[in-house]
Amino acid sequence: MCGIIGITSLQGNFREPIGKVVRRCLERLEYRGYDSVGIAVIKGSSIEVRKGKGKIAEVSVRLSFDEVDGLTAIGHTRWATHGKPSDENAHPHTDCTGRVAVVHNGIISNFLELKEELIRKGHVFRSETDTEVLAHLIEEYLKMGYKPFDAFKAALSKIRGAYAFVVAMAQEPNRLYFARNTSPLVIGIGNGANFIASDIPAFLEFTNTVIVLRDGEYGYIEPGKVYIERDGLPVNVEERIRLISWTPEMASKEGYPHFMLKEIHEQPIAINSTLAGIDEKAFNEVINAILNSRKVFILGAGTSYHAGLIGDYLFTSMLGLDTHTLISSEYKKYLNSISDGDIAIAISQSGETIDTLVAIRAFRERGAKIVAVSNVIDSAIPRESNYVIYTRAGPEIGVAATKTFTTQLVVLTVLALKMGIAMGKLTNNEYRDMMDLLNKVPNLVQGVMASVEGKVKALSGYISRKQSAYYLSRGIGVPLSMEGALKLKEIAYIHAEAYPAGESKHGPIALVEGGYPVVFSILDDDNVDALLGNVMEMKARDAYTIGLVPEKYVGKFKELLNVTLEMPNIDYRVAPIVYVVPMQLLAYYTAVAKGYDPDKPRNLAKTVTVE
Ligand code: F6R
Repeated sequence: MCGIIGITSLQGNFREPIGKVVRRCLERLEYRGYDSVGIAVIKGSSIEVRKGKGKIAEVSVRLSFDEVDGLTAIGHTRWATHGKPSDENAHPHTDCTGRVAVVHNGIISNFLELKEELIRKGHVFRSETDTEVLAHLIEEYLKMGYKPFDAFKAALSKIRGAYAFVVAMAQEPNRLYFARNTSPLVIGIGNGANFIASDIPAFLEFTNTVIVLRDGEYGYIEPGKVYIERDGLPVNVEERIRLISWTPEMASKEGYPHFMLKEIHEQPIAINSTLAGIDEKAFNEVINAILNSRKVFILGAGTSYHAGLIGDYLFTSMLGLDTHTLISSEYKKYLNSISDGDIAIAISQSGETIDTLVAIRAFRERGAKIVAVSNVIDSAIPRESNYVIYTRAGPEIGVAATKTFTTQLVVLTVLALKMGIAMGKLTNNEYRDMMDLLNKVPNLVQGVMASVEGKVKALSGYISRKQSAYYLSRGIGVPLSMEGALKLKEIAYIHAEAYPAGESKHGPIALVEGGYPVVFSILDDDNVDALLGNVMEMKARDAYTIGLVPEKYVGKFKELLNVTLEMPNIDYRVAPIVYVVPMQLLAYYTAVAKGYDPDKPRNLAKTVTVE
């Protein structure tokens, strides 16, 4: 995790000190880690470093980042792995001379042996991090008379592990070196300035012309030049340039107090864009591949796994497919059952989650074909997949996934519907009706937000005083409940668990006592009566019952519920896309009621690039 940024600019390009520009870029990367923050700016023959423990808002003021001027700078926001969060362990790290500064995202697995060797040679280390070894290694090669680029390459050849590096050297004040292996890195090509960062939103204010780097690539940027190499050979840069449709507004809060709330409210637009962007050819290729496959696996982590479970429910219940859905990091269980002719649908909004990346590599090695569902063009998972379907949610900056989840559901639902036609499981009329319904979802989501937001906000006051909650449902509502519970857990720090409602009697109900919150989702006509029984069971134990209930069943449930959140009457296959919205809002407002920052939940970072 960690967020890194590098900028190299022509004189007069920015009308403000470069430290201020770097600080703003870092703010957009803060979702990747917020243990410490730092910047380094090349100043004549030396490099000025300012860094410290804490969040950007506080450290940047304390250390006056905004006042540091120069043409070339790097910055870093940290999610600690090697070495506790502290001033010393904050990046950038420098060599003994202070003329080489490094920022890093990833883990150098052989850093201990490299560090010992460097200490023996007289290098003095000032941090406990793995990163610092690169600065000293470069210094070592420079001392031996290597030119900066050669010193950088020689140092890289010694490093094992996962990394995205950006390196500034005082010797070359208009150039920044970079290298990528596993951790993400994107170049932004601007006018009079070039950028390199962990993610596109960092520099979106300045450019939407990007090159997404691939594993094994390294090189340098200058204000008017991008040079990339791989295995000693230059890469054709022109061929790799992409124009992305994201706008600077998408990377700013636009008046919302938090990115998460903005992103929840952006869901109608994100869903619309995803529906409008459906690439029939790509879908048809995927459908053919699935129809001709032996087994279908679906994998993802966290929220993406929950989307996978909902897709699995549709594939199994509607199409009769025998799909296997797994949490990416648990792929090893399946190694003996994967073979040629299998398909794995890998879901990852960032396209960079290491657990999912490692899993698809294992699937590919055993002959499976991979379908990626991702929100980030050219990211690692799509690149290593045979087929790609993109969601069009725009950049998601809040750590908790919201609009990327609903757009993943849109893609999986459309896929299931199209497969329904191809497999003869749906008539053309049924398909058309369902697609019509999907096209109404943006309005339905808008309507639900307007009708429940106030009520959810009021409810959050009650929930914020609780230590635990259950989310119960049946059928397709179970993975939806898992997503609701994850949201509450991760941003409001309330222990929330999802269960199939029927299963609640087999143990979980023991925890229920007066006032214990239980959130029921009622989506599917077939499960209404059974769920009514489950609500009664909870009510009999004096639980505080909250229900997401379709309008047609409100009368039936009303007496049993402390809080009724009325939902539109909507086919259960599409309902999760709408029902998740009140759950997202509940988590958001509860976090705010407890005084937490929902955009930066403790211990978490968006895009998990360490296993
Ligand atoms: C939860 C959340 C995480 C991610 C998970 C996978 O709100 O955001 O659980 O869903 O880390 O990330 P991607 O989808 O980028 O692979």
